[in-house]
Amino acid sequence: MIRLEALGKRYKNVEVLNRVSLTVDDGAFVIITGRSGGGKTTLLSIAGALTRPDEGSVCIDEVDILQLPEPELAALRNRKIGFVFQFPSLIAPLTVLDNVLLPVAFSDRNPNHADRDFAESLLEQVGITGKNALYPSQLSGGQQRRVAIARAMMNRPSIILADEPTGDLDETTEAEIMNLFQGINHRGTTVVMVTHALDYAGLGRAYVLKNGGLLPYAGSALAPEASAQGGNALAPAVSAQGEVL
Ligand SMILES: Nc1ncnc2c1ncn2[C@@H]1O[C@H](COP(=O)(O)OP(=O)(O)O)[C@@H](O)[C@H]1O
Ligand SMILES: [Mg+2]
Repeated sequence: MIRLEALGKRYKNVEVLNRVSLTVDDGAFVIITGRSGGGKTTLLSIAGALTRPDEGSVCIDEVDILQLPEPELAALRNRKIGFVFQFPSLIAPLTVLDNVLLPVAFSDRNPNHADRDFAESLLEQVGITGKNALYPSQLSGGQQRRVAIARAMMNRPSIILADEPTGDLDETTEAEIMNLFQGINHRGTTVVMVTHALDYAGLGRAYVLKNGGLLPYAGSALAPEASAQGGNALAPAVSAQGEVL
């Protein structure tokens, strides 16, 4: 479970997050939308312990991660969290297979046969076959995204954080990638996704990040029970354009 409490973050004099609270239960699928520059990436990277908030707390499975020394934090991040970043993040001089194996290397051991078998099976699951020895530049944008998803799954994380994973993809590929995340979620992994693909808001609980605050997204079937802002179910719902409804 991820519990974000009263997060505050500012850059210089810009307040990006203002007392944002969010609880993500195990196995949940949470969608976060909102305008560009609204702080979605910042929120996701705080949830994944890549960025420290100025205020508030971040608990992952009841561990207050902001209190952990960096080596333990890095180990927890590597073990529990898979990231799919907003911008292409495959390593150009590594093959597709070695990119997927990277999280193993970051756990301070060399990939073994079982790791390679697992990486190959992940690539198959994301629909990449016969390309293990190619380099990222030899793949399409959608294929690169699939490899990044396989890489995020490599250490069998309990949580996947995905930042606009379909932002630059055509509608058909977007649908396929969304399907992939739905499958990952159905197999038990918690998914927190930033996206503008609101046709998929019904996959889980959806929120809008606006003016530094998180509100239930009006298009989400589950919005009225959503627990944004410290469980205030009476918070107004907001459309994708940010109008309060
Ligand atoms: N490392 C940083 N240093 C300074 N400003 C930043 C940094 N990261 C983000 N910002 C600013 O914080 C705001 C929110 O950014 P971001 O979280 O990337 O928004 P979004 O993902 O919703 O587009 C923007 O105004 C951005 O310029
Ligand atoms: Mg962003």
